[in-house]
Amino acid sequence: MADERQKAGRNRTLSLTETEIPVLREKLVTLEKLENGCFCDAGSCGNQSGAEQTGLSDIKKIENTIIQCDILKALEYLPDEFAELIIIDPPYNLTKKFGGTVFSAMSNDAYDAFLESWFPAVCRKLKKNGSLYICGDWKCTSSLQRAVEKELTILNRITWQREKGRGAKSNWKNGMEDIWFAVKNPDDYTFNLDSVMMKRRVIAPYKQDGKPKDWQETDDGNFRLTHPSNFWDDISVPFWSMKENTNHPTQKPEKLYAKLILASSNEGDMVFEPFSGSGTACVTAKKLGRKYCGIEINEEYCLWAEKRLADADADKAIQGYFDGVFWERNSLKEQLKGQKKRG
Ligand SMILES: C[S@@+](CC[C@H](N)C(=O)[O-])C[C@H]1O[C@@H](n2cnc3c(N)ncnc32)[C@H](O)[C@@H]1O
Repeated sequence: MADERQKAGRNRTLSLTETEIPVLREKLVTLEKLENGCFCDAGSCGNQSGAEQTGLSDIKKIENTIIQCDILKALEYLPDEFAELIIIDPPYNLTKKFGGTVFSAMSNDAYDAFLESWFPAVCRKLKKNGSLYICGDWKCTSSLQRAVEKELTILNRITWQREKGRGAKSNWKNGMEDIWFAVKNPDDYTFNLDSVMMKRRVIAPYKQDGKPKDWQETDDGNFRLTHPSNFWDDISVPFWSMKENTNHPTQKPEKLYAKLILASSNEGDMVFEPFSGSGTACVTAKKLGRKYCGIEINEEYCLWAEKRLADADADKAIQGYFDGVFWERNSLKEQLKGQKKRG
């Protein structure tokens, strides 16, 4: 589990040392702790146990925790309507190895049944004015739509052009993902448009009466603030030279989740991330001043999440999100220039 292999100079992929592992492990909420109703780090404080704790009326106990457990089991212990925002990145209908466990591709009917086994229970954890996002690829997206429509009102489908994907000899390479956006009550939900404006370079700087029309002329270049659409082509998957990178096989970028969290929650709100993997939604939520709770079955992934969360105490930066705006790809030079100037 500890990874002390020599890495190339610019490789910033997260690794754990032997000494870190027990410290991070103590932080995890396990099924045993859930069953005993005990959430002290050692998991043995002798608190109330069993039925008294089932349902956990005390939400404080799961605030800012990663629960290492099968989602079906863990959900039984979480209170209903505790989250303002839920972000789900479930196993897609593909054969994929997550640590030592293989999730196997199945028929669409079987995948529908898989979703049915946990998705309605997850929706019960959403507040009445809450929002939910669920990610998928072209193959499982119809199943996701069917599952979401039964429980919530779908408001949009975001297409994320993630670029990286495995080439195929007799098919198009998959370079996109869907993110379904749904709410419990379409008349009452959070959407902070001003928090997710995009900063784009102006290609044709049109002026009226000698003044920039709808764009700003700055020492760092010419930029326009634009409304974000449901097509996202400015976010790459994490790669080895990025600080947020782990060895998780399907890690989502923090910039992607930052958009969802800023738009659909407020500071202090609870972001719930079932199937949390390396904890991207939890980490991004923490960086943005939200509370979080993740559930992930694989212990090593949970430890990676805990390390990222600990690192976030000192470094709240999210690559590509700076100065309150989302910058387009490859504008790092301008971002740094602006940063330097502001000290
Ligand atoms: C698509 S990945 C999520 C990756 C995550 N978004 C990230 O950025 O790292 C799905 C995760 O679900 C976990 N998982 C699969 N079945 C599970 C179950 N029954 N309970 C909890 N977690 C499970 C896998 O171990 C895997 O890490």
